[in-house]
Amino acid sequence: MTKILTSPDGTPASRLAFGAMQFGGAADAQASRAMFDACIAAGITHFDTAHVYTGGASETLLGGMLGDRRDGLPIATKVAYDGGGSKQNIHRSFEISRQRLNMDMVDILYLHRFDPDTDLHESMEALAELKQQGLIRYVGVSNFAAWQVVKAIGIAAKFDITVDILQPMYNLVKRQAEVEILPMCADQNVACAPYSPLGGGLLTGKYASGGAGRLIEDDRYTKRYGLEWMHQAARDLAEVAVDVGTDPATLAVAWAAAHPMGPTPIISARSTAQLAPSLAAMTYEMPPALYARLAALSPTPPPATDRIEEQA
Ligand SMILES: NC(=O)c1ccc[n+]([C@@H]2O[C@H](COP(=O)([O-])OP(=O)(O)OC[C@H]3O[C@@H](n4cnc5c(N)ncnc54)[C@H](OP(=O)(O)O)[C@@H]3O)[C@@H](O)[C@H]2O)c1
Repeated sequence: MTKILTSPDGTPASRLAFGAMQFGGAADAQASRAMFDACIAAGITHFDTAHVYTGGASETLLGGMLGDRRDGLPIATKVAYDGGGSKQNIHRSFEISRQRLNMDMVDILYLHRFDPDTDLHESMEALAELKQQGLIRYVGVSNFAAWQVVKAIGIAAKFDITVDILQPMYNLVKRQAEVEILPMCADQNVACAPYSPLGGGLLTGKYASGGAGRLIEDDRYTKRYGLEWMHQAARDLAEVAVDVGTDPATLAVAWAAAHPMGPTPIISARSTAQLAPSLAAMTYEMPPALYARLAALSPTPPPATDRIEEQA
């Protein structure tokens, strides 16, 4: 049974989450508000932001939209992408984030990435302090390898807390999480909210027809999705989408959500028009044969043991 986090009034986190990374950046205040409203209308309860997004505008805009819905929405932010995992950086960044969000308590706080230069005991102790003070309800980690999560779980126990949720990258052309991360989450009772279900936009198919977007505008994404087989998979996905009469973005998000571990992908966009096909995945039931057909569009990552002859 997949662990499901809840809001302060007990509302469960929705099947998909929405990420506010574009709020105050590619999406202005009006476009951001329209996407928030579309998410609420579609039944999304789980919203995600981070201390580093758009210089703080993402947190400020999201916090300003919650109003009297706040207690029914599990809200997540992340700290320590910059500045390392020291106690001082975690406490200082979180306090700024909490003020931007205008929240007494933030439901989920993630360490945004693993810091090899800081003892993980120090970072986990900082999160335990925030939890004991009632300032956060759930502890998360993002961009951690599976062994780093298990290490964090062991350390967390010393401080009487649990690691409740992991936020890895996962989509049809970034499938490393299948090898250790998703099985580890199932085994360790850690919820999983993977990001980039569309591969930053690649899996919409728009780049095959000369479209513009993040993969052209942002060097990190150009490089991350720069391999030809990934672009071929996106073209193939677009063909399958025509065949089954659905938008490729709907299929990509629904495929990530259909992993047997039960992850809750974080969708995002710069406008409600872009968001619509991802939101449609909220109600899209993925038939097993279609799930397998989509999985066959990209290489299955080899097993952790490298014994490929034993792979199902
Ligand atoms: N923990 C982390 O390190 C981390 C990293 C990344 C994201 N995240 C979280 O996960 C959330 C989602 O990640 P993501 O934005 O990478 O998700 P994604 O779904 O892979 O990519 C979303 C992007 O794809 C493009 N797009 C979406 N729908 C489209 C459509 N219908 N037609 C054309 N283009 C479309 C838009 O970018 P363009 O218009 O620019 O092409 C949009 O911003 C973020 O908001 C954030 O909360 C976390």
